[in-house]
Amino acid sequence: MAQAEKVLVTGGAGYIGSHVCKALAEAGYEPVVYDNLSSGYADFALWGTFIHGDILDTGKLLEAIREHEPAGLIHFAACIEVGESVKAPGRFYRNNVGGTLSVLEAMRLSGLRDLVVSGSCAVYGAPESVPIPEHAPLRPVSPYGASKAMMERLLDDFEAAHGLHTAVMRYFNASGADPEGRIGERHVPETHLIPRVFMAAAGEIPGLALFGDDYPTPDGTCLRDYIHVNDLASAHILALEKLRRGARNLKINLGTGRGYSVLEIVAKSREITGKNIPCTLMPRRPGDSPALVGKVERAAGDLGWTAAFSSLENILGTAWNWFVRDRERREFHLRRAPSIRA
Ligand code: UFG
Repeated sequence: MAQAEKVLVTGGAGYIGSHVCKALAEAGYEPVVYDNLSSGYADFALWGTFIHGDILDTGKLLEAIREHEPAGLIHFAACIEVGESVKAPGRFYRNNVGGTLSVLEAMRLSGLRDLVVSGSCAVYGAPESVPIPEHAPLRPVSPYGASKAMMERLLDDFEAAHGLHTAVMRYFNASGADPEGRIGERHVPETHLIPRVFMAAAGEIPGLALFGDDYPTPDGTCLRDYIHVNDLASAHILALEKLRRGARNLKINLGTGRGYSVLEIVAKSREITGKNIPCTLMPRRPGDSPALVGKVERAAGDLGWTAAFSSLENILGTAWNWFVRDRERREFHLRRAPSIRA
């Protein structure tokens, strides 16, 4: 039997990276996970080979590429929380910009050509209208968004100078979990809306802090375009295959084109969990955009992709299933870090 082609996945032990590794394995590839486990988990690295390494270590990345000779690289390893980026921008620029530069250098030095990266709709900032097309100006409002925009610029420059083929997947709000419940969203501390809603439903926190209800949106709370992590996974594989066939410089939104408000997420979660979810109104969170909803036709046209898993029922249903299964581990962390209960 022919050997499976390998794909190097930085951040492959994280939330989105692990779902991509599962999808790669199901599509007949062998993922090579490269992760420093700073926010990833060894028990998420269930497919392929695991290398414990930091993306800032260009030498080690280069070694991994030379040893495994992957067909391409998918780069996830990054800092992700918008609010944190406002408080600690240095860490975001170091990991997201410096880390991407290191990945690009390792690719240049090894001759590896094809790169798919985890981008973000945060590069659009607070656009005047939604849905947002890919040609909208990049005007990030948080250091996180700025770091992702800078990352895109690095890719463009390396493509032009060194012949790399790159694809940026600008995702809207990654959500949901593996329907089999083996992997899912697990951040410590957890800052994302859906897991926090479930923490409130399960009584792990006294209630959900509702960050602002005076935005210019229908119910005053922020609108986001929630996209199931399995749909993100299939898009990354389609993009990599497209690069391998010769495509270059892809910038693609991944969302559903439909926004849900924070209050709509809470209401649907009450239905799905059957639990009461208390909410407390808090001031706006710095760095938040009122509405981020994608125009998503390019993904369908260029990649032949559809968001097949991303109904709100499926997103919240798979996320709740995972949340309940992962509870024991989360409680262990909560016992160790009681300050994140607030
Ligand atoms: N929110 C609350 N209470 C909470 C948590 C969140 O009201 O306890 C609100 C936020 O203010 C925001 C919305 O819920 O309006 C969604 O917040 P998340 O933290 O879940 O997601 P973000 O939109 O801030 O950011 C996420 C990822 C980024 C990515 C971005 C794209 O963290 O990496 O989606 O929108 F870039």
